[in-house]
Amino acid sequence: MQYRALGRTGWQVSEVSFGAWAIGGAWGDVRDDESMDALHRALDCGVNFIDTADVYGDGRSERLLARLKRERSEPIVIATKAGRRLSPHTADGYNARNLTGFVEDSLRNLATDCLDLVQLHCPPTDVYYRPEVFGALDDLAAAGKIRYYGVSVERVEEALKAIEFPNVQTVQIIYNCFRQRPAELFFPEARRRGAGILARVPLASGMLTGKLTRDSKFAADDHRNFNLHGQAFDVGETFSGVDYPVALEAVEEMRRLLPAGVPMAALALRWILMEDAISCAIPGGKRPSQVAENCAAADLPPLDEKTMAAIRAIYDAKIHPLVHQRW
Ligand SMILES: NC(=O)c1ccc[n+]([C@@H]2O[C@H](COP(=O)([O-])OP(=O)(O)OC[C@H]3O[C@@H](n4cnc5c(N)ncnc54)[C@H](OP(=O)(O)O)[C@@H]3O)[C@@H](O)[C@H]2O)c1
Repeated sequence: MQYRALGRTGWQVSEVSFGAWAIGGAWGDVRDDESMDALHRALDCGVNFIDTADVYGDGRSERLLARLKRERSEPIVIATKAGRRLSPHTADGYNARNLTGFVEDSLRNLATDCLDLVQLHCPPTDVYYRPEVFGALDDLAAAGKIRYYGVSVERVEEALKAIEFPNVQTVQIIYNCFRQRPAELFFPEARRRGAGILARVPLASGMLTGKLTRDSKFAADDHRNFNLHGQAFDVGETFSGVDYPVALEAVEEMRRLLPAGVPMAALALRWILMEDAISCAIPGGKRPSQVAENCAAADLPPLDEKTMAAIRAIYDAKIHPLVHQRW
């Protein structure tokens, strides 16, 4: 494992870290014992940073992480999120009272008295035009309830606006072989301001592992079934917003680029790590074998220019017209 600075926090985080959405819910059936094995394997591989949210399985993901901390002695940085409990999910809901309540719930679930990092959970765009929201987070930090805060965004423009607030330490954004626009405007600006970047959905919901086919089936409670057309939340969170058949075609082209013995998941993650503005990728993993394969990406040599150009050409031809200007 290799480690990178997480913005200005002073933390050095594993460049392949762990996304803990699937072990909470919305990805079909998961068993807590297998999820715990996956988490332990992540730590064995050198992972020291885990991304979760209060709403992943209504606290289930956070509680598994509390258990992990009891079972292991290594320092682990846990980033959680707040805001998605709001119903309706409005900018007005992002007020001091609600944020304090969400933070208190996460403190209980994570069995701690100070959260390492709280991210606003893809709030409505208007939130980024309300300095009082960030003031409320400053107050929670001053009260010792949270150490640092950041944001998780849907769009590049939200990311650019968010980092104008000086205490936003991190931005979580979708970045992968099928979502390349963040590198154009946002990464240089984030680098300039010293903001950390978490690359989420790095495997395009499993598509970039190369294991999916036209016949793959997803359970009714898996978002790759119930959110395929954005019925429940932003469609960009499911397969990165790329039409399923087009994504399969692009993956077949990428398969030809694989060096011998390198799984496609590792290639996809190594591609993300080529960008030095990225602090870490946070692939989801349900099983120890997936986690080990993903972590191995950190030990691969850099991709050569030919491979980088070929991935860009696949993106330009097949993916860019569908998604580039949408997020
Ligand atoms: N709004 C937000 O803030 C937001 C939204 C989305 C994600 N996130 C964060 O980002 C993290 C990562 O994104 P994601 O989980 O949506 O998508 P992802 O990391 O692109 O895909 C994860 C899924 O791919 C499959 N997989 C992972 N590694 C594999 C391997 N080596 N071989 C085969 N299959 C593998 C697993 O599902 P199967 O085995 O079922 O295929 C896993 O759940 C989340 O866990 C969460 O922490 C945040």
